[in-house]
Amino acid sequence: MNGKGMYFPLLIAIVAIFVSTSFMLLEHLSFKVDRSHHHHDDKRKNQTICDNFSPNFPSIDPNTSSIICVDHNGCCNFTTVQAAVDSVANFSAIRSLIWINSGIYFEKVIVPKSKPNITFQGQGYTSTAIIYNDNANSSHGTFNSGSVQVFSTNFIAKNLSFMNVAPMAVPGAVGAQAVAIRIGGDQAAFWGCGFFGSQDTLHDDRGRHYFKECYIQGSIDFVFGNGKSFYENCELTSIASPGSRSINGAVTAHGRASKDEDSGFAFVNCSIGGTGRIWLGRAWRSFSTVVFSNTFMTDIISPDGWNDLNDPSRDQTIFYGEYKCSGAGSNMSQRASYVQKLNDTQALPFLNLSFIDAHLWLQSFSN
Ligand SMILES: *[C@@H]1O[C@H](CO)[C@@H](O)[C@H](O)[C@H]1NC(C)=O
Ligand SMILES: *[C@@H]1O[C@H](CO)[C@@H](O)[C@H](O)[C@H]1NC(C)=O
Ligand SMILES: *[C@@H]1O[C@H](CO)[C@@H](O)[C@H](O)[C@H]1NC(C)=O
Ligand SMILES: *[C@@H]1O[C@H](CO)[C@@H](O)[C@H](O)[C@H]1NC(C)=O
Ligand SMILES: *[C@@H]1O[C@H](CO)[C@@H](O)[C@H](O)[C@H]1NC(C)=O
Ligand SMILES: *[C@@H]1O[C@H](CO)[C@@H](O)[C@H](O)[C@H]1NC(C)=O
Ligand SMILES: *[C@@H]1O[C@H](CO)[C@@H](O)[C@H](O)[C@H]1NC(C)=O
Ligand SMILES: *[C@@H]1O[C@H](CO)[C@@H](O)[C@H](O)[C@H]1NC(C)=O
Ligand SMILES: *[C@@H]1O[C@H](CO)[C@@H](O)[C@H](O)[C@H]1NC(C)=O
Ligand SMILES: *[C@@H]1O[C@H](CO)[C@@H](O)[C@H](O)[C@H]1NC(C)=O
Ligand SMILES: *[C@@H]1O[C@H](CO)[C@@H](O)[C@H](O)[C@H]1NC(C)=O
Repeated sequence: MNGKGMYFPLLIAIVAIFVSTSFMLLEHLSFKVDRSHHHHDDKRKNQTICDNFSPNFPSIDPNTSSIICVDHNGCCNFTTVQAAVDSVANFSAIRSLIWINSGIYFEKVIVPKSKPNITFQGQGYTSTAIIYNDNANSSHGTFNSGSVQVFSTNFIAKNLSFMNVAPMAVPGAVGAQAVAIRIGGDQAAFWGCGFFGSQDTLHDDRGRHYFKECYIQGSIDFVFGNGKSFYENCELTSIASPGSRSINGAVTAHGRASKDEDSGFAFVNCSIGGTGRIWLGRAWRSFSTVVFSNTFMTDIISPDGWNDLNDPSRDQTIFYGEYKCSGAGSNMSQRASYVQKLNDTQALPFLNLSFIDAHLWLQSFSN
């Protein structure tokens, strides 16, 4: 999403912008990287960094899965996540569980279309992260800027973070979009994951996706794309600059372009907080579809709630709904005219996992 031209009134002095995003993002995480191995004890000079390495691999059925281990200190199969992905056979029928030890993996990772059934298993989203710093300028477009890019089906990630630490996007900036992950394959699921960036953090590009108990941080359009996705119990945190009197961010920018497409974002039992003055969504394309249900919103949400990108013709076709939300930001009395306060019947399709046909594909967390 291009924020250009939308935020002209905003260019108030934003001191926080000059704080490097990397610092802000990293500060948020209390990385529990074990540094004790690095202390050289005189009495045991030849102790190696791997002596205490004892990975807690999950138990798997070797007929249907295999485990590949990644450790940045070199204590098991691979030191980078990409090398582990590269080792997986094309179109493998069995699941490849890539177990990633805690730590920061500074690399750009691509999971190609030819590698379905891959799981990234981290050790917690505050201790394991894949991080890169491309932005739209450095990577020839927003869509290529993702630190991680998934094009395959049946991708799963558990307990790790995806981060883009390019400098924070100033409203109206050109080329500052910086994606943490692009999810371009069908049937992807994320449990206990973190997504960190500013403009365009989570590229929910296409296909059916599930997010449970995830932490999602950004400023402008930080969940965007044309996916059909169900967000359950997720924490959405805006890092748009505090103290702004004009709008300086948006949670979503859903990209449905026509009636015939089957896409939309459903948020259930989530919370929205943080800083700035933001919209719940902007109509990237004319049939943009987003519903927030049972979601707590602080007063960072602008009273009008949503934005049609200054194209009133979109008001007839966009579908923006709110259902049983709470908190100061959920007051709908001054919402834009096209926003719908959904009744029980209207909300139903957006309230459970049938929204993403989960019975056809979603595996339980323990698998
Ligand atoms: C490492 O130290 C132990 C005793 O502390 C010793 O027995 C062993 O030979 C040493 N190994 C190497 C490779 O130096
Ligand atoms: C794996 O497959 C083999 C051969 O088909 C079978 O004997 C074995 O019981 C299977 N293991 C499990 C855990 O299902
Ligand atoms: C990973 O390491 C284990 C244990 O050393 C080994 O059995 C396995 O073949 C390795 N896998 C790959 C993909 O290299
Ligand atoms: C996997 O497929 C890609 C493209 O489809 C091909 O370039 C690559 O050589 C294949 N790798 C293996 C190990 O077969
Ligand atoms: C692997 O992926 C294929 C195609 O997406 C899917 O049909 C199959 O069920 C998957 N297998 C496993 C073990 O996840
Ligand atoms: C993921 O993290 C949660 C919370 O720390 C923990 O309860 C759960 O067992 C972890 N799951 C896996 C598969 O690592
Ligand atoms: C991207 O490139 C354009 C043209 O060179 C430049 O004006 C802009 O400031 C750059 N943006 C960022 C975030 O570096
Ligand atoms: C949302 O929360 C309500 C109330 O706690 C619960 O009944 C419902 O099952 C939850 N829905 C989802 C999809 O988790
Ligand atoms: C919602 O906002 C309107 C207008 O600002 C106000 O009159 C009303 O009391 C608010 N409702 C609640 C429940 O806070
Ligand atoms: C919900 O709203 C729809 C559309 O306005 C309406 O047709 C339907 O009767 C309403 N249902 C309930 C239960 O109020
Ligand atoms: C989920 O919602 C659909 C309506 O979209 C409904 O038909 C179905 O019974 C619901 N499933 C559960 C498990 O509540």
